[in-house]
Amino acid sequence: MVLLFDFIYRQFIHEPPPPTASFKGKTVIVTGGSGGLGLEACRSMIRLGASQVIIACRNIEKGKAAAKDLEATTSCSSGTIQVWNLNLSSFSSVQAFSKRVAAELPRVDAVLANAGIATRTFRISEDNEETITTNVVSMSLLAFLLHPKLRETASKHNTQTHLTITGSELYEVAAFKESKVPDGQIFATLNNKSTANMSDRYNVSKLLDLYVLREFAASFPVSSSGVIINCIAPGFCSSELHREHSNAFTNFLIRILARKAEVGARTLVYGASAGKETHGQYVPDCKIKAPQKGLGENSELQHRVWTELKKKLELIQPGVTSLT
Ligand SMILES: NC(=O)c1ccc[n+]([C@@H]2O[C@H](COP(=O)([O-])OP(=O)(O)OC[C@H]3O[C@@H](n4cnc5c(N)ncnc54)[C@H](OP(=O)(O)O)[C@@H]3O)[C@@H](O)[C@H]2O)c1
Repeated sequence: MVLLFDFIYRQFIHEPPPPTASFKGKTVIVTGGSGGLGLEACRSMIRLGASQVIIACRNIEKGKAAAKDLEATTSCSSGTIQVWNLNLSSFSSVQAFSKRVAAELPRVDAVLANAGIATRTFRISEDNEETITTNVVSMSLLAFLLHPKLRETASKHNTQTHLTITGSELYEVAAFKESKVPDGQIFATLNNKSTANMSDRYNVSKLLDLYVLREFAASFPVSSSGVIINCIAPGFCSSELHREHSNAFTNFLIRILARKAEVGARTLVYGASAGKETHGQYVPDCKIKAPQKGLGENSELQHRVWTELKKKLELIQPGVTSLT
């Protein structure tokens, strides 16, 4: 019931405020910047003065069309937007993208780890079910690989930089039955097609993102790193997220309930400019919210997930979880 009231309040009564923080001179990377919330976040940050926006996307043509649209609607100077290839279904793509960032960008002020999928179809990409690879493992790999650049920028320019994860309020309804297994078996169980609960999978991925946020933030305190790590949630928004289960009913729900992508994107831009009090915090609609009781505050489960995830990341790239 509380969830329902919260949903109605957020969708119909309260709107996140338009962002006003300056991005003047800043370089930002937006994964999934070619559409939906990511595209609108790019538009907003360009209008707020960002001097370099990297649209990180798997479909370069779509990325170029997005860049053209942004140039036309913001009149930004040529060269402000770059479109770089990043496919989160491929660990080597994440590694190549990160190497390019290190080699070619003099500074990175904010990374919006925004790209994500919602599917009810079980598919394997790399060594996991695709939602887990895209929304959790690759997102975390990217976070570890780009964190050194964010730290370097913070220290060189005497500023604070941001790593903002796009979460979802649907983590609150995750059942996560795959967590009821012996130690070390959580990811293997999520990858078992015969027992997978795909209608819960997206919610689980966003719960895991929240666990990652908290453990990652605890490992890298903002006082020593200069990097603020937070997780936003944009509310139910009109975008292409529901493309795989689009039908007349979902389209109707989106039409009557969903926020415009531009409104949801305000929360991303807020995350990428928020103060250090948001470090390690879940920040739906630009306000810190305490973890939901039950799975949301289960620190033992959180630690088990983190331990398993770090082992997976170390197999992909030895040493990645302790890069300096
Ligand atoms: N819309 C909502 O109601 C809502 C609510 C809460 C949270 N969110 C979260 O908001 C984020 C953005 O979603 P959205 O609503 O803007 O949906 P969207 O329009 O589908 O955008 C998702 C973006 O992620 C990209 N992406 C997906 N898989 C990728 C991969 N393997 N590699 C690289 N990029 C990939 C997509 O690229 P392609 O276009 O090439 O597929 C697209 O640019 C997601 O993390 C989503 O979970 C959305």
